[in-house]
Amino acid sequence: MIDFKPLTTGKALSFISHPVAIITVNDGKKINGMTAAWVTQISIEPPILCVSISPKRHTWKMLAKVEYFGVCMLAEGQEKIANVFGTKSGNNVDKFGMMDIAPFMGAHKVPLIPDSLAGFVCRKSHQVEQGDHFALFGEVVEAWKGPEKRPLNWFKSGYHLG
Ligand SMILES: Cc1cc2nc3c(=O)[nH]c(=O)nc-3n(C[C@H](O)[C@H](O)[C@H](O)COP(=O)(O)O)c2cc1C
Repeated sequence: MIDFKPLTTGKALSFISHPVAIITVNDGKKINGMTAAWVTQISIEPPILCVSISPKRHTWKMLAKVEYFGVCMLAEGQEKIANVFGTKSGNNVDKFGMMDIAPFMGAHKVPLIPDSLAGFVCRKSHQVEQGDHFALFGEVVEAWKGPEKRPLNWFKSGYHLG
């Protein structure tokens, strides 16, 4: 017997497993970051990442002013960072300050989260509006590696370790 049942679209979409990342930005006046699960690699050569960001995010407004942004892939033990960066807005709070995170400054003064699995500095290439989000594409111009740890993933509305 085939085990395949109908499900609402929203519930079925929660079965897509995503990495948990922090998208970072420095507009010259302040730094900010937001949690994003909708992050993926699009191309090997040149290396291109794509992140899906709602225009409601303060990060999106800051991204409009800059050429470069950061993508930090979170690891086990960084769930609290994911929660704070994913629930508070840089419009009201300094998330780096409240989490006591001294950012590692990558190329073009893009802040990166120390001890993430990997950190990328990307140059904005294209953005495409799709529904209520924008797909932002960025070519990786610099990459860093953190400690060997298990990746933090987002699946069925909860954190899991890969
Ligand atoms: C696990 C998790 C994943 C998230 N993924 C995304 C995402 O892919 N795109 C997005 O626009 N918001 C996403 N969010 C919501 C933003 O991180 C959240 O609205 C954040 O507070 C925005 O911060 P900002 O206003 O400083 O930009 C996610 C939140 C969590 C907790």
